[in-house]
Amino acid sequence: MGTLAEGDGGDVRVSRAFAGLGPWVVAWAVLSVVGSWVQLGLWGGSTHLDGLLSTQAGRAIANLVALPTQAFNTALMILLHMRADRSAVLIVSSVVIGWACVLFGLRTLLRVWVRVRSVLVGAGPSVVRERHAVVERGGPAIPSRRAFLLDGPLVIGGAAGGLVGAHSVVVAPFDLRIERYTVGVRDLARGLEGMRLVQISDTHLGPHVPPEFVARVVRESIALRPDVFVLTGDYVHRGTDCNARAAALFAPLVETGRPVIGVLGNHDWYGDGRDMKRQLSGVGVRMVDNDRVFIDAATRGMWDRAPAAGVCIAGLGDFGRDTMDIEAAFRDVPEEMPRIVLQHQPDAVETRAFVEGPRMDVIFAGHTHGGQIRLPLIGAPVTLSRYGQKYASGLAQGPRCPVVVSRGIGMSFLPVRIGVRPEVVEVTLTRM
Ligand SMILES: [Fe+2]
Repeated sequence: MGTLAEGDGGDVRVSRAFAGLGPWVVAWAVLSVVGSWVQLGLWGGSTHLDGLLSTQAGRAIANLVALPTQAFNTALMILLHMRADRSAVLIVSSVVIGWACVLFGLRTLLRVWVRVRSVLVGAGPSVVRERHAVVERGGPAIPSRRAFLLDGPLVIGGAAGGLVGAHSVVVAPFDLRIERYTVGVRDLARGLEGMRLVQISDTHLGPHVPPEFVARVVRESIALRPDVFVLTGDYVHRGTDCNARAAALFAPLVETGRPVIGVLGNHDWYGDGRDMKRQLSGVGVRMVDNDRVFIDAATRGMWDRAPAAGVCIAGLGDFGRDTMDIEAAFRDVPEEMPRIVLQHQPDAVETRAFVEGPRMDVIFAGHTHGGQIRLPLIGAPVTLSRYGQKYASGLAQGPRCPVVVSRGIGMSFLPVRIGVRPEVVEVTLTRM
């Protein structure tokens, strides 16, 4: 008898543990299938969702579906030193395990909350008797005031959190801003007073950013009618599948007849930097990784040789994935000529090569994406810069000269932006 009773107790405990699991298992199965389908479309180079995912709205919804497992996916990639965009097994397993973790965590939190709530709501016997009496007389069930005070903030907080989360994935990443700065430059030729440069950085065409959004960025940049367009790297997110498509998206800049000058970023090198450079050069972008060009003061056209009066635009190879050849970048540049420098990663400006190198007047960088998440009072918790908030975004003062750090267009790691909108930067040069 004793054994049977113990067995019964064990069965009860087991059945309690599994009680109510059905809807969670169904949700997990549905989300795993839909999530895998979307993730394979985003990362796997599959074309089954190509039409939908190339639009801004379609990609925003796909990013929302992908978000709960993206962190898990990224962690697996880092731990296993693998490229998720090449491994369908990794993509599907990260979705399946990721959703299981999310739903199990949510269920556990709800169960804990139900227990805590039952302890906190527990009212005195007289109150309970009074409520029972009302119900027995045929009146409506009276909700406990304490329960209402506990549930109210939880429901409001949950709804607010959900709205902020959805906004940070669906709206904010595509809410493009134009940021304007004026920078004083020594020895700037009279003919270049008021010269305007428009910078596009970190478009990250790929799993999180659709071509439609990059095309819109290019259109809005052209509408600013600058003298020069500068591109500071990370044209694609990973791999080489998007290289040609990414380059083609910049062709309308070249068709304006104005100089379009660029350098590569670390993400371009994760795939094939040489191919990315070739593709961009092919559409007419002048790539200046460890090279330079000149803008003539008289015509504001682009020259390969130093004009009598003008400005040099030099580029340096990516600080993390390429070499920086300062000598090659400033080859044959007259000492008195102002130099604008393109370098993907802002931390490079603190290196000896920059600090003890030749004259530089203003540096354009990207890479940080402004941290993608910026909180009141503390700023961006993660900046991808060793110098914290200094080069997170905006116009900073480097050791040698001002540094313009773009918040960029696209996203890395998670498809999220909070308090850090994507931006096109316009810089006006003025004589000082
Ligand atoms: Fe980037």
